[in-house]
Amino acid sequence: MESGINPWSSSQSVDIDRLFAEFGIAPVDDMVTTLKSQPSFFRRKIVVGHRDYAPIVEAINSGSRFNVMTGFMPSGHPHLGHLMVMREVVWHVEQGGSGYVAVADREAHAVRGLSWDDCKRYGREYLECLYALGFEGTTYYQSENEQLKDLAFEAAIKINFSDLQAIYGFSPETALAHADSVATQVADILYPQLVEGPAPTVVPVGIDQDPHIRLTRDIAHKMRWFTVLDQGNIISVRSKNAPSHAMDAITRAFPGSKRYEGHVDIPDADYLSVSEKVRAIEVAEGGYGFITPSSTDHSFMQGLQGGKMSSSVPDSLFWFDESEADVKRKVMGALTGGRMTKEEQVRLGGEPDGCPVYLLNLFHMVSDDEELLDIRRQCLSGSLLCGACKKATFERVKEFQRDFKEKRDAVSHMVV
Ligand code: TRP
Ligand code: SF4
Repeated sequence: MESGINPWSSSQSVDIDRLFAEFGIAPVDDMVTTLKSQPSFFRRKIVVGHRDYAPIVEAINSGSRFNVMTGFMPSGHPHLGHLMVMREVVWHVEQGGSGYVAVADREAHAVRGLSWDDCKRYGREYLECLYALGFEGTTYYQSENEQLKDLAFEAAIKINFSDLQAIYGFSPETALAHADSVATQVADILYPQLVEGPAPTVVPVGIDQDPHIRLTRDIAHKMRWFTVLDQGNIISVRSKNAPSHAMDAITRAFPGSKRYEGHVDIPDADYLSVSEKVRAIEVAEGGYGFITPSSTDHSFMQGLQGGKMSSSVPDSLFWFDESEADVKRKVMGALTGGRMTKEEQVRLGGEPDGCPVYLLNLFHMVSDDEELLDIRRQCLSGSLLCGACKKATFERVKEFQRDFKEKRDAVSHMVV
């Protein structure tokens, strides 16, 4: 398969360097340090890459409009592996973003064969978790959102099978409804702009979901009526089959401009202000004027016993509603970066970097940086042994689960 990553495949080996080099994911750099508040997923380099995140940083810092959007496939109960995206969404809402969450029941039904009833039930649980973490905003089930489905149809006009083949490895045997769920997801990501008008939109994803982002960015661009080109002393507004009334409106809006067959040239103008004006005209004339959506890409913590974290390997993670005894067994039985013998560990220290227990703390269980650093130091120096470390980690997880359950119960009524 061309892209080397497939969001639906169970074998997941994501070659991060290749993604960066080949597909244009940018490393997270100094840009995010201009954010007034630095969430742990940036501070701790959990988010490893992004596409076009600069407009989001700018919107946060200046208090202007932006959206944060994601979707969850309701194919089972929510678990540890979903927590990072949820936290990223909530954080962006706290920074002033308009929040949107889709329950991807069309995808779960088409691709995973879940009944609509199960989709409903599981979907509720995801939304409950989000509200418990502090989410505010719009939530919907794909199957019930008529506007969304219409948008998916419009988007599908710009998606062809060779795209799907190249991006996802679709074959002639792939079900049509699977392709449809791709169009629906593209529509999910563009939906906030349909509702509220053009605005930067960030989609926090695990890095394996980047193909969706790549496709959506491409489609968002194709759905625009105009492209604006900077040609030095001329700004050229090119029509991509814009209706003629929209071309007329562009010509009228820029006195001194010159209209040609497929474009309007504007002398001595400023690229950015022309672009924004063109976008506004496109929307006023009945187009979408989409701003190409952005993403953050986070890395994954390994499963608790090493390897991939996946609900098909139940010991690799815990569910939020799992019994304390089971969670304890999983955490206490986790793989560690410890040595073969106690003597060796005291002498050499442990290896926190590849240690799932350490990563569990780094990703989710220890919010204080000093405390995390302390664990790391003690591990490296051999003064903390894995048994004690896992026990302390389990106590944190237990407290997290208890608190989360309480919060879920308190917000349960918010899920409609
Ligand atoms: N395909 C995603 C998954 O497998 C779910 C999803 C649906 C989604 N719509 C989305 C993710 C929009 C991000 C944005 O989990
Ligand atoms: Fe991992 Fe803790 Fe053991 Fe270090 S002491 S290797 S962090 S379990």
